Amino acid sequence: MRVVILKDAQAVAHYGAQLFVKQIAQKPASVLGLATGSTPVNLYKELIKANKAGQVSFKQTTSFNLDEYLGLAASHNQSYRYFMNEQLFNHIDINIKNTHVPNGMHPNPKQAGSDYEQAITHAGGIDLQLLGIGRNGHIGFNEPSSSLASRTRVKTLTQATIDDNARFFAENEYQPELSITMGIGTIMESKQVLLLATGESKADAIAATVEGPISAMCPASALQMHQDAIIVIDEAAATKLTNKDFYQFIEKQQRKLETD
Ligand code: F6R
Repeated sequence: MRVVILKDAQAVAHYGAQLFVKQIAQKPASVLGLATGSTPVNLYKELIKANKAGQVSFKQTTSFNLDEYLGLAASHNQSYRYFMNEQLFNHIDINIKNTHVPNGMHPNPKQAGSDYEQAITHAGGIDLQLLGIGRNGHIGFNEPSSSLASRTRVKTLTQATIDDNARFFAENEYQPELSITMGIGTIMESKQVLLLATGESKADAIAATVEGPISAMCPASALQMHQDAIIVIDEAAATKLTNKDFYQFIEKQQRKLETD
């Protein structure tokens, strides 16, 4: 597990965006795993800028998003499909037909889960999966107690997540309590995983992810078992890490190796 601690949220977004740019340069037909929420918004802005500047092209890429609210149509302005179109897809040269978000309106949600798994396999698996993290350690909508071997399926949101996401919904607007999400097992099969976290509210979750025991009570801690997981955080999200100095020392050595 590589832990990269940067000054602020902007530096985190820039670093994350560069990883995507490098991935696509190495493999133009990359399969990208994408996330919603506040954390990736600045990274997506950087990718839009890079695309417009001709530094990266998404023409051959395919994407799979982590999750979607169950019961929200793609056209609903709180659906994750809508979010992705607005925040990224409408502004880059990706073929929209190659972008995938779980179908929150599928008449048979169980089937929607296995269809999604099949589509990922058919695309050749995810090359680089972007993740945010919930204050309770969730990744995707895999809430604490989710099986570490889980696959794409329906998950009930915790009250904490519902409360955290209430900021996106208008007062009295219907807010879903169910989601369809890639499982932890699905995420673990991605070739590389990039988890971003910024702000002090994520400090406990980051400490549990990096330094806590591997436990279903902190779903992100499963990444300790991933061979190529990189955790990119700002100073505020790093405040509860016991071994912060060591992670910074490792990165210094890493930079030396890269310039040699
Ligand atoms: C979003 C997702 C969630 C968020 C997490 C953090 O697709 O799967 O796990 O990454 O809830 O959300 P923000 O970034 O809004 O703090």
